[in-house]
Amino acid sequence: MHLAQSLATLPLDPASATPMFRQLYEAIKQTILSGKISPGMQLPPTRALSELFGISRQTVLNAYAQLMAEGYLSGTVGKGTFVSANLPLSKKDKPNTPTPAPLQLLRPLSARGQCFVGPQTALNIHEGALKAFRIGMPGIDVFPFDVWARLEARRWRRPSHELGYSDPAGYAPLRTALAAYLRASRGVHCVPEQIVITSGSQQALFLIATLLLAPNDGAWVEEPGYRGISASLHAAQARICPVPVDNEGLCVSHGIAHHSDAKLVYVTPSHQLPLGVTMSLQRRLELLAWAAKNRTWIVEDDYDSEYRYTGPPLASLQSLDRAGCVIYVGTLSKVLFPGLRLGYLVLPPSLVDAFVQARAILDRHATIVPQMVLADFIAEGHFGRHIKRTREVYAERRSALLEALNTHLAEELQAGPADAGLQLSTTFRRQRNDLAVAHAAAQKGLEVRALSRFYNVDESAGSGHNRASGLVLGFAPIPVAEIKRGVTILRDILRR
Ligand SMILES: Cc1ncc(COP(=O)(O)O)c(C=O)c1O
Repeated sequence: MHLAQSLATLPLDPASATPMFRQLYEAIKQTILSGKISPGMQLPPTRALSELFGISRQTVLNAYAQLMAEGYLSGTVGKGTFVSANLPLSKKDKPNTPTPAPLQLLRPLSARGQCFVGPQTALNIHEGALKAFRIGMPGIDVFPFDVWARLEARRWRRPSHELGYSDPAGYAPLRTALAAYLRASRGVHCVPEQIVITSGSQQALFLIATLLLAPNDGAWVEEPGYRGISASLHAAQARICPVPVDNEGLCVSHGIAHHSDAKLVYVTPSHQLPLGVTMSLQRRLELLAWAAKNRTWIVEDDYDSEYRYTGPPLASLQSLDRAGCVIYVGTLSKVLFPGLRLGYLVLPPSLVDAFVQARAILDRHATIVPQMVLADFIAEGHFGRHIKRTREVYAERRSALLEALNTHLAEELQAGPADAGLQLSTTFRRQRNDLAVAHAAAQKGLEVRALSRFYNVDESAGSGHNRASGLVLGFAPIPVAEIKRGVTILRDILRR
């Protein structure tokens, strides 16, 4: 096609919101890239093009200037404008050649990339409007957003150099505040230098699995347990070793008997997810002794330990560790709110530098303003007050749930330990398919999580224990009236 003809058909729309020079620039660029005009060809003078389209000459000059700046065109004033001769347009870029297949069809994910996809790494996403009985959620309705907004506004009023790039380990005053909080409330042995702020505890688990395990290294996980750890272990190509949980927590002797070569143990000792049991002191000491002897890392995920309704919070496993083998992981998702995406690691000193460097590779550092606001929120006493207040509100919601279950569903559901956390696990008294019940509940506008979904996807890796079938019911974010209403709906479903 003749050059003038090619350009005359350029799709310019004077009514569009896109400026005319931008449209012309885009259209000429696409014409060059599609091979309709070839490297070395001369473009019409700006005056000719402005007459052709009925646009100002300045518009054409602007479009040419942009194309020159980006290397599509070359030329000098008075000597003409040319399509750059050295553009690496291959024959494939010429007209009439079929568009190449998308890259992902030609080249599948790398072996490592494949470990990130599939059912074993798919994490549950709790999104959409809150429904009874969503799990893993705190009560957003009792969060002091007015205080948070005031603290944040104050930070914006006094912008400083701290809004630039900062320490990948996290905002120093926040690390100091968290170290003091963890020492006082959880008995954690730590100094601020051992704390690394992460984007939620999920990033902490990913870093742990990636940095500490080689492909096929064994890692104990609680069975049933948290998908966030098994997904991270799969992604790191580790070997998942499911270890059953009984009413004293992780069955340490089972783990030692079946997976003694493991390099890492993941555990939720304060409040096992999903069963809700607290690990006994005997099991804690047994695990620590074995890990110290075998040089195995223990990952203590202390995600919701602030909420204990029958007494003060229990000391952490890390507080009993004398060998430096416990990595403590915490999160603000439960005590504040998940969308904040702030969590932290308390690392043995020997691991700190490696984790800080790796954390920087992921996203340099956690977003700074929420870290600053959180530091202020803690320093000014709001954090402590919020914990106290939410403990009371959740205790009331927990009682309402227990009472409603007792009144309406005592013959159908057996409630598990209920002295801590944001949710309660239950098992069916009669044999039922929990997935089918969860589905029926969803049809009626409820959100209940089937207990069987907490088991490892690969049943053949089974723990030797039968899978429990039941429902996990969140109560912390749900107002009392909704809890009562939800239980009567559940009753109707289970009695059908
Ligand atoms: C056992 C456990 N750990 C940690 C978390 C929190 O994850 P994150 O801090 O990434 O929001 C959850 C959330 O449901 C959890 O159940």
